Amino acid sequence: MDWLLQLLRDDRFMPHGHCYLWLPELLWTNVVSDGLIAASYLTIPVTLIYFIRKRRDLPFDWMFGAFGVFILACGSTHVMDIWTIWHPDYWLAAYIKVITAIASVITAVLLVKLVPAALRIPSPSQLRKVNDELRSAQAELVATARRAGMAEIATNVLHNVGNVLNSVNVSASLVSEQVHASKAHALGKVVQLLREHQADLGHFFKHDDKGKLLPEYLTKLAQAMAVEQQHMLEELANLSKSVDHIKEIIATQQSYAGKVDVIEPVQIVELVEDALRMSCDSLSRHQVTVVKEYDSVPHVLLDKHQVLQILLNLINNAKRAMPDEPGQGQGHQITLRVTKSGDAAVQLQVTDNGEGIAPENLIRIFSHGFTTRQDGHGFGLHSCALATKGMGGVLTAHSEGAGSGATFTLRLPVRATVPAEAL
Ligand SMILES: Nc1ncnc2c1ncn2[C@@H]1O[C@H](COP(=O)(O)OP(=O)(O)OP(=O)(O)O)[C@@H](O)[C@H]1O
Ligand SMILES: [Mg+2]
Repeated sequence: MDWLLQLLRDDRFMPHGHCYLWLPELLWTNVVSDGLIAASYLTIPVTLIYFIRKRRDLPFDWMFGAFGVFILACGSTHVMDIWTIWHPDYWLAAYIKVITAIASVITAVLLVKLVPAALRIPSPSQLRKVNDELRSAQAELVATARRAGMAEIATNVLHNVGNVLNSVNVSASLVSEQVHASKAHALGKVVQLLREHQADLGHFFKHDDKGKLLPEYLTKLAQAMAVEQQHMLEELANLSKSVDHIKEIIATQQSYAGKVDVIEPVQIVELVEDALRMSCDSLSRHQVTVVKEYDSVPHVLLDKHQVLQILLNLINNAKRAMPDEPGQGQGHQITLRVTKSGDAAVQLQVTDNGEGIAPENLIRIFSHGFTTRQDGHGFGLHSCALATKGMGGVLTAHSEGAGSGATFTLRLPVRATVPAEAL
């Protein structure tokens, strides 16, 4: 501090105004110009500080700080230029210049070093171009995702409809066989006979051998046709159940986005029986014995078609885990179990004694696209897992390993039990 006072007290100098001969024009031109320069230099750091605080994302913000110090120092040299006109504190002015020089050199060096990095910053037009490219890539991605979503929905529809079509086929060919073998054509013969004896029907019924047998024949024919009709009605009911399920599969997928589950009271055992009936043709082709272990479970509120779809997939997978060459089906067995699991859930199990699942496959069995079958898609279990999740349930797979069969367990929450008398 003393040395500073010493400097200020150095009275060997005369004020700078003497150099201007105290000419007012010259003196005030310098004072006003230095004043304006100093004022401008002092406002620049303030503006820079404001800018940095507003744009905290700016790279190299320290450079703005260095500029601020440099300009502030420059401004103070101009203030000193005004001061020394009347006060000869040249030492103080010199030291302030030294500080300004140091700040200037540091800023200049830093600026030189900064240039290569600053040049790498993309220009606004480059950024705009990249932005445009990103935008079109994003649009392309959205379109691809939409196409992929549509493809997944289509696969789901085809897969699950495919499962049911088999049973549609069986019912349709059964009805067709029954129509072909129908006794209805016998009625034509009876009508023909009656026409031939139109004039003497009384005599024909009483004395003709054929006429005497005709009432008995007609009674038997009526009975046979009633049985025929009953069978056809049953088969047509099966057919319409399958077609109904197909319609449901398509409707569910169509309204995938804002899907509302159709919750209705379902008797689980009936649902399992429906699934079995839809698969029975291929099960009997594979000579698979079906074992049923049904506990008595109450009606529950469920989305019937989702559960049916899962059961069809599980039964289909179990069947395909068994060789289908004729004669190799001996001993093949699928067990279907329906049990209560506590008060809040029902459990459906599909167990087979087929090829089993190796531990390394068990952990990825529900992944989309995982398949070990030549003609498989790896879609069935994935869609079952999604549907189960949508219903708030759990689907698990268990197998002791290759050759040991497999058990799939579907556990579904009973949202509300429906009292039997309410149905
Ligand atoms: N009961 C089972 N026994 C043994 N392996 C099974 C059983 N169920 C499923 N798997 C295995 O899980 C894989 C995936 O089954 P998933 O139903 O998802 O597809 P997939 O049957 O191969 O083809 P798809 O999509 O046509 O149904 C099967 O390829 C098979 O390896
Ligand atoms: Mg499958």
